[in-house]
Amino acid sequence: MEVFDAIKTRRSIRSYLPDEVGQEKLNQVLEAARLAPSGANRQAWKFVVVRDAGIRKQLAGVTRGQDFVADAPVVVAAVATDPTATTGSGEPAHRIDLAIAVDHMTLAAHALGLGTCWIGAFDQRGAERILKVPQSAEVVVLMTLGYPAREGVFRGRKSIEEIVSYDGY
Ligand SMILES: Cc1cc2nc3c(=O)[nH]c(=O)nc-3n(C[C@H](O)[C@H](O)[C@H](O)COP(=O)(O)O)c2cc1C
Repeated sequence: MEVFDAIKTRRSIRSYLPDEVGQEKLNQVLEAARLAPSGANRQAWKFVVVRDAGIRKQLAGVTRGQDFVADAPVVVAAVATDPTATTGSGEPAHRIDLAIAVDHMTLAAHALGLGTCWIGAFDQRGAERILKVPQSAEVVVLMTLGYPAREGVFRGRKSIEEIVSYDGY
């Protein structure tokens, strides 16, 4: 699938078939994260792949009632290993870096016929406890992964005119 087709047709998937995600496809999705750009090429990240049903259920328990998280055969926790790093402009770098890596994964997964959903509404400390993440690191976002049971719905987007200006704000 061409990159632009993947960008145009990807949707958040919140309903999954129980079918396992094969290791080969999983590797391709993780490779998309590995190759993502990061500030100063820091790559200060770790991706914790959760396939164990019990751990997925525990994670769902810290996602504010998002039960579908437990139904996805895979949940990937995107972990910043250096949450203190900043960009040259002083912005915290880890959330930017991890967001790019996760976006790569969502697009790669979609190109492989898999569905994903970003999970940003969760109790960070709770997820870190469940996954035994050290205090020096931070779970930035969770991502569900699996074969869609239902197609995602297109959520509208603002027009180009609303979001773009030239030569000044
Ligand atoms: C940072 C971030 C956090 C999100 N958190 C959640 C979440 O906790 N639960 C959920 O169902 N969707 C979550 N989403 C998915 C968005 O709701 C979704 O991307 C948006 O509505 C556009 O829909 P689409 O992904 O199908 O294009 C999140 C997306 C992003 C980028």
